[in-house]
Amino acid sequence: MASAERIQAPKGTQDILPADSAKWQAIERVAREVATLYHFDEIRTPIFEHSELFHRGVGETTDIVHKETYTFNDRSDRSITLRPEGTAGVVRAVIEAGLLNDVGARVKVFYIGPNFRYERPAAGRYRQHHQFGVEAFGVAEGDQDAECILLQMDFYRRAGLKDLALRINSLGDAESKQRYRDALVQFLSPKQAKLSEDSQRRLSDNPLRILDSKDPRDIEAVRGAPPAAEYLSEASTMHFNRVRSLLEAASVPFSVDGTLVRGFDYYTGVVWEVTAGGLGAQNAVGGGGRYDTLVETLGGRPTPGVGFGIGLERLLIALESQQVAIPLDQKPLVWLIAHGDAAKDYNWTILRELRAAGIRADMDVSGRSVKNQFKVAERAGAAYSVVVGETELASNSVMLKDLARREQTSVPRDQLIALLQSAQRQQP
Ligand code: HAM
Repeated sequence: MASAERIQAPKGTQDILPADSAKWQAIERVAREVATLYHFDEIRTPIFEHSELFHRGVGETTDIVHKETYTFNDRSDRSITLRPEGTAGVVRAVIEAGLLNDVGARVKVFYIGPNFRYERPAAGRYRQHHQFGVEAFGVAEGDQDAECILLQMDFYRRAGLKDLALRINSLGDAESKQRYRDALVQFLSPKQAKLSEDSQRRLSDNPLRILDSKDPRDIEAVRGAPPAAEYLSEASTMHFNRVRSLLEAASVPFSVDGTLVRGFDYYTGVVWEVTAGGLGAQNAVGGGGRYDTLVETLGGRPTPGVGFGIGLERLLIALESQQVAIPLDQKPLVWLIAHGDAAKDYNWTILRELRAAGIRADMDVSGRSVKNQFKVAERAGAAYSVVVGETELASNSVMLKDLARREQTSVPRDQLIALLQSAQRQQP
């Protein structure tokens, strides 16, 4: 019989298979640890929202909303969008839950989860990607931007990522942004015919986005464009200086990139991006910025906000190309091996006891030969085997074998757990 045609994963998506899931768990563990250390609590929001949230929040004229969202009508004819990023949903959720109702409310949250963008798939660019992100609400001072950046850089350091470049810029408050917009339109208008078709449209819709274009015609046209810093109001200049001085005090290297703009309309002040070596063209491993009007735009009490998102697929690709080993601890510590059926039943009891004591353990239950049980143990990466045969059954003991050193010792049953617990503690 001809086998049925296979169904493949949609373009731009990938499975995280058992061989890779340990790396994801390790990275997610680092993310949770570092976020908790900086006193951010986890938030989980739906992966789909009313489309209007992203139109109003992220911005109608941004490429992400304009061309890249997965939008469909549900069975009740509501327009639904798979979230393309995390910030808008988090803002909606904290407003909806009333977390920003009190004057002076401060909320610091983090999230880990998938986002969906209908982009042209390439190395490091997917239609489903995952981000670790944080959002901090309620503090207008540059101190909060700095805390976010320090957390972000600390996360990369703990994950082992090297060869990082942090670029920061400030587009300033609404007034500064408007002045900069005007200056940019003035600078680019004479070159309009030389811009890409998209950027010709952006010139009236959203001129700042032209600075972010990857089209060679636009890159050429924006050469020599005035830097945003020259158009900052006094308050925005002071804010930017505060962020920079806190980064300097923490010895975090950065450069000011006067033409760094990011792809969302909600940014209002300081923005930043981090790139890493070993990634090729899609080298941004994270970016963030301040969005002081977004809460109000989405119907909340005016509340300043700032945060970042880190692409986890790119982080893992960069770690691999930089040959950084991710510490994994998911392999079984112990594999139980039985000579015969009586030993197998006895091993079931030991297996339950080991697991109850928090020791990662497993065994083969399909009746393989002892030789093959050892093979399976090695393939699973176990550090030890516990072997039980007639002698052990008779003497209430087990044979403990260090599989790497190929040494074995007879251990009384009642000492086994303590011994393995201490071995597990000593594992890297
Ligand atoms: P973003 O720069 O669009 O910002 O995304 C953050 C990171 O997610 C990027 O630097 C990149 O590492 C990763 N990323 C984005 N798109 C893809 C893709 N198609 N494939 C693989 N990785 C991708 C945001 O999303 C903002 N919400 C960040 C933020 C939070 N700003 C303030 N708060």
